[in-house]
Amino acid sequence: MSTGKGKIGIIGSGLIGRSWSMLFAAAGYNVTLYDILPEQIETALVDLKDQLTKLEQKKLLRGTLTAKQQYSLITATTSLADCVKDAVYVQECVPENIELKKTVFKNLDAVVDAKCVLASSTSTFVPSLFSADLVHKSQVIVAHPVNPPYYVPLVEIVPAPWTTAEVTEFTRNIMEDIGQAPVTLTKEIEGFALNRIQYAILNESWNLVKDGILSVADIDKVMSAGLGMRYAFLGPLETAHLNAEGMENYCQRYSKTIYSTSMSFQPVPKMEGDVMKEVSRQLNEMTPLDQLPARRAWRDNCLTQLSQLKRDLDSK
Ligand code: NAI
Repeated sequence: MSTGKGKIGIIGSGLIGRSWSMLFAAAGYNVTLYDILPEQIETALVDLKDQLTKLEQKKLLRGTLTAKQQYSLITATTSLADCVKDAVYVQECVPENIELKKTVFKNLDAVVDAKCVLASSTSTFVPSLFSADLVHKSQVIVAHPVNPPYYVPLVEIVPAPWTTAEVTEFTRNIMEDIGQAPVTLTKEIEGFALNRIQYAILNESWNLVKDGILSVADIDKVMSAGLGMRYAFLGPLETAHLNAEGMENYCQRYSKTIYSTSMSFQPVPKMEGDVMKEVSRQLNEMTPLDQLPARRAWRDNCLTQLSQLKRDLDSK
């Protein structure tokens, strides 16, 4: 299926709805933004204009169009039917609440044609949870972005058991077309891929702090000054492939050690009680709660620069 440069509907004009609007407009798509709150749409349009202008000034704007041209591709509506009419692809971005997602998809089901792809940004719900009873259920899929999507390109594409192969392929193609980095799961699974891997790291980090083996600051250093430096460029499997003479050789050398170390892992922690208080105390010392916005701005600046470096390296 070709993606064309058709109309895109965005449902929900919060943080993620705005990010998707900018990503699609940067690639030349016409975007129609819908929200249940008219005042939220007004705020979103002002914010989008401001963000695009600032990105252009800082030479960080994606795509080849000017900020003004990109902004002119974004319109807003308070009618769900108008948002979806003639759209080739709809990206749902309402708050993470399963009853709300079910209602929104039911409403979409009533106004959508038989071709439009209905994608959800959900971080945690597998698509069968909110599409099972829909007439157009074969058009529903998850396209889960990573915050901030403008700089972190991964999108996890997760089909429900009834999603057609064409819908999955179309979603992957459109993500590639707007410059994101899609991965396609062959079937739905709780946590998708990113969170399953993230939770494995979180659980082991938790247990190492619980047992007093490492402080929170030092756990973070293991990632930021160690594993994370590699992982910005290579996955764990290719890292292993390069750390020996290929993967078979890596397994011959290290698989027994990896297995016996892994067998010493503790049960999954519940992340509550005294350990939670202690992890929290150490984190609050590192970054007091009133400094979270400043630290987030620092993180986003680091990610911006890293994404530029990765783009420069890829183009060489
Ligand atoms: P948000 O709270 O910033 O925005 C939600 C928007 O949806 C608001 O503008 C709200 O007015 C609107 N809304 C509420 N009910 C609606 C309805 N019935 N119809 C239309 N619009 C409605 O939420 P955010 O952070 O943008 O999250 C949206 C989705 O993206 C969630 O499913 C979340 O799990 C997912 N996501 C969020 C990430 C994040 O870091 N914030 C990262 C990846 C995915």
